[in-house]
Amino acid sequence: MSAYSDTFCQLDALLTQERAYWQFMPFACHEYPWQHSMPALSDWLDSLSDQDVANLLEDTAALIGELAVFLPVLPEMHQLANIPVLPPVSEISPRLPRGLDVGIPGRKWQQVLAFNAVLPSHKLPWLEWCAGKGYLGRVLAACHNTRVTSLEWQRSLTEDGQSAANQLGLPMTFVQADAFAPESASVIRPNQHAVALHACGDLHVSLLERVAAKRTAAVSISPCCYHLIRHDAYQPLSAPAIKSELRLSKHDLRMPLQETVTAGQRVKQQRFVEVSYRLGFNALQKHLTHNDAYLPVPNVQKALLKNGFADFCLWAAQQKGLQLPEDIDYAHWQQKGEACFRKVERMELVRQAFRRPLEMWLVFDRALFMEDAGYQVSVGTFCDKPITPRNILIHAQLEK
Ligand SMILES: C[S@@+](CC[C@H](N)C(=O)[O-])C[C@H]1O[C@@H](n2cnc3c(N)ncnc32)[C@H](O)[C@@H]1O
Repeated sequence: MSAYSDTFCQLDALLTQERAYWQFMPFACHEYPWQHSMPALSDWLDSLSDQDVANLLEDTAALIGELAVFLPVLPEMHQLANIPVLPPVSEISPRLPRGLDVGIPGRKWQQVLAFNAVLPSHKLPWLEWCAGKGYLGRVLAACHNTRVTSLEWQRSLTEDGQSAANQLGLPMTFVQADAFAPESASVIRPNQHAVALHACGDLHVSLLERVAAKRTAAVSISPCCYHLIRHDAYQPLSAPAIKSELRLSKHDLRMPLQETVTAGQRVKQQRFVEVSYRLGFNALQKHLTHNDAYLPVPNVQKALLKNGFADFCLWAAQQKGLQLPEDIDYAHWQQKGEACFRKVERMELVRQAFRRPLEMWLVFDRALFMEDAGYQVSVGTFCDKPITPRNILIHAQLEK
């Protein structure tokens, strides 16, 4: 009997039922999607000051409490999305050879140690998938004294990783290869414990699929960047997710990663300027072209934003092959952009409440896929969110 299918199905039903509150593009909306269906929620959002919005964005528990008045399913959804903290199996700060952490950024080092500490020791050789410079592999090789094969696409990273491993005398072999290439399957073996720390979207999915096909003994992954996929839309893995009514676009898949990380005042101000300029230009172009669709504008050099809104519009119009008339009241459209920004922020506040539940839908889909392939699966967090918001670990081992 699957451990996760009930939770997945309940979460799936609630996410489907409430999709009007999260599955939309705030940028493309000129009013709240629930403007008429739930005016009380719209009024409450409009009554919030910018500071209230900022505070609630940083305090999900308070946000759920406030939103539950309008969306009473939210506490239950968060209950379903709640997963245990994985207990460390080995020491979080093991005795390691000197110099092992050289060149590893502080937070990455903490992630690597925390990930290592919750991994069950199967005394098997390790396969590190999308290894970067093999930071995790270094700790695995040193702590478990077993061989590590580290596969990575970027040659410079494999070279740096290999030379650091050689200097440290660690039993690590880097393989420079594309994880998607059919030949890369040859590094995946039955007698192995495969790991992937923050391998993006299809990269960790392809590992799970190949591990299941090869009957590899164990695999532990920490998923990230769910939207980095080769198809246009999400391809569900497990039978319950295939049956689900939810169809997830890349825009939906970005949602779990948009959790607000506390930004400084300067970054917040820069974002306000850029987003309100974009929205102001969008309102202007809609007015001129009578086309109601949102017109995306490419990335902009941050220096251009300093020249003001009118220059931004001239640049954006050029990018889009649009002729702007001489007599535009730029102050009016800038104000419109700023008003739209405030609306977008409030829509994002509502979507914020669905981020972790949606992430757990994706995580349980992976867990159910591995269970169906005959693996015993556990899901939990391996570190606190300030160390990394992508703190979920899926561990699967073949049932004996
Ligand atoms: C987010 S980084 C994670 C690196 C490392 N696991 C860590 O946690 O520090 C993802 C890594 O995947 C690698 N990568 C991207 N596409 C790849 C591919 N097709 N095949 C192999 N590696 C790939 C990138 O070069 C990058 O080093």
